[in-house]
Parts: sequence; C-alpha cells; structure tokens
Amino acid sequence: MKLFDLKGRVALVTGGNGGIGLGMAAGLAQAGAAIAVVGRSKTKGEAAARQLASHGVECAFIAADVAREAGCRAMVHDTVARFGRLDIVVNNAGTNIRKRPEAYDAAEWHHVIDTNLSSAFHACQAAYPELCKTGGGKIINIGSMTSIFGLAFATAYAASKGGIMQLSKSLATAWAKDNIQVNAVLPGWIDTDLTRNARTQVEGLHDRVVARTPAGRWGCPRGPRRHRGVPRQRGLDFVTGTAIPIDGGYSAQG
Ligand SMILES: NC(=O)c1ccc[n+]([C@@H]2O[C@H](COP(=O)([O-])OP(=O)(O)OC[C@H]3O[C@@H](n4cnc5c(N)ncnc54)[C@H](OP(=O)(O)O)[C@@H]3O)[C@@H](O)[C@H]2O)c1
Repeated sequence: MKLFDLKGRVALVTGGNGGIGLGMAAGLAQAGAAIAVVGRSKTKGEAAARQLASHGVECAFIAADVAREAGCRAMVHDTVARFGRLDIVVNNAGTNIRKRPEAYDAAEWHHVIDTNLSSAFHACQAAYPELCKTGGGKIINIGSMTSIFGLAFATAYAASKGGIMQLSKSLATAWAKDNIQVNAVLPGWIDTDLTRNARTQVEGLHDRVVARTPAGRWGCPRGPRRHRGVPRQRGLDFVTGTAIPIDGGYSAQG
C-alpha cells in the first residue's frame, strides 16, 4: 500500500463538510493526507474536521464561498498558510436549481455555473503555482452523469458538469509537463443532502434511478454497510462498466 500512501501530503476538499466530499476526504485521510475541509457552514465544517482527525491526520475547516473567485483564491492561500503546502485539490462543492430551462432567470443560471464550474477553474488556477512548488500534484474535479447526458429539469447543472469534463481534459493536457494530473470523476445517483432534495422535488425519481441502475440501488458516499442482506465494505462496489484510459493523457489531447 506504500504506492497509495499520502502521509506528508495536503489535500484541499471543497464541500468536504458533507455528502460525497466528506466521503472522499475520509478516504484521503485514511491514506494519511492532512485535510483542508472547505465549505460555507462553520458548524458542518468543524464537525467534519473533527471526524476526519480521528484518522490521525491534521484537519482544519477553511471557510470559503467557492462561487466567488476571491473565495477560491482565499481557500488556497489559507490552506497553504495553515499546512505549509498543497498536493491534492478536490473540486467537489456543487449545487443545483431544478426547473425547466424556460423557467431559469439569469441569476439562477450564473449561480449554478459559478458554484459548479467557474469555481473549479478559479481553484485550479490559484492552486497551480502551489502544486508546482511541490513538484506536481493531483486535481480531481467532480462531474456527474450529466457530464454525459442531459436532464430536462437540470439545464444549468448539466451544462456545468459537461464543462467540468472538458475543463479537466484541457488542464490535464496543459499541466502534464508540470507533473500535475487532472481527472474528473462522474458519480451516478448518490444518496446525499443534494439528492434528498431532488427526491422531494422530482416525482418518481427514486424508483426510476433504482430501475435504471444495474446495481439496483443508489450509491452511498462511504459505501453501503449492507446490500440485500450482504455486508459490503469495499470502496469500489459502485464503479462498474467503465473504461478508464491509463495513457498519460494521450486520449484527452485533441
Ligand atoms: N449526490 C449525487 O447523486 C451526485 C451525483 C453526481 C454528482 N454529484 C456532485 O458531487 C458533488 C457533491 O455533491 P453532494 O451530493 O455530496 O452534495 P451535498 O451533500 O449537498 O454537499 C455539497 C457540499 O458543497 C458545499 N457547497 C455548496 N456550495 C458551496 C459554495 N458556494 N462554497 C463552498 N461550499 C459549497 C456544501 O457545504 P456548505 O453548505 O457548507 O457550503 C456541501 O457540504 C457536487 O459537485 C455534485 O454536483 C452528486
């Protein structure tokens, strides 16, 4: 496991104070990374930092609104000031406004795009010199199934998540020379606060997801403890049917 040892590394996880972000932060902490948990809610953020510290690593909550460029720059600055370096950036914070495209106003459109897509660009730009200082690093941007297909009730969200995929490919090709690897992860339907709201707003969503998903269930940020009565502890049980190029960026570059 030395290959995956993150002792001495520092990871910044936006939205690391809940849902998928907290699940990913826990995985990074278990591997030994110190964690900067970024979010807006101090209560949730400090609770998450305490929970993550139980893995024996340094953790701190760093308050920032990633929908603002200044917030993204400040969170990178504060992370380096607190931990002395930056090695891993997880751009996970996200939001959604569910309505039909004809009903969006411009402020709603910009709110979703700023939170989900522009945030990742600003965070990556701010992190770039810090990652270069440590000889390289990893950037993980969180997309969605809507990076690939559309949803009638999530136009701005789908546009932002499609953008996340292309942003990741472009940064990967630009910064490979700096030993910075940039990838996007596209979660399916995962049971979090975000989708709990979706299930109340979109009738029949829960059952449609279960019916369409071969695994026959929603994903869970830290893996389900039991599924159909069988204990499930492994982290990759919800990854299936994918083809992941391991090619140094060959297929991402045009
Ligand atoms: N759940 C799913 O099925 C699913 C599927 C595909 C993709 N995703 C993506 O996965 C990511 C995490 O989703 P989730 O389901 O875990 O959502 P979640 O439970 O709602 O968590 C999102 C986190 O982002 C933070 N956040 C939101 N806006 C922010 C802002 N402007 N500045 C700083 N932090 C902000 C929130 O913290 P504060 O409240 O403290 O700001 C919250 O902890 C999102 O990008 C989402 O689009 C989720």
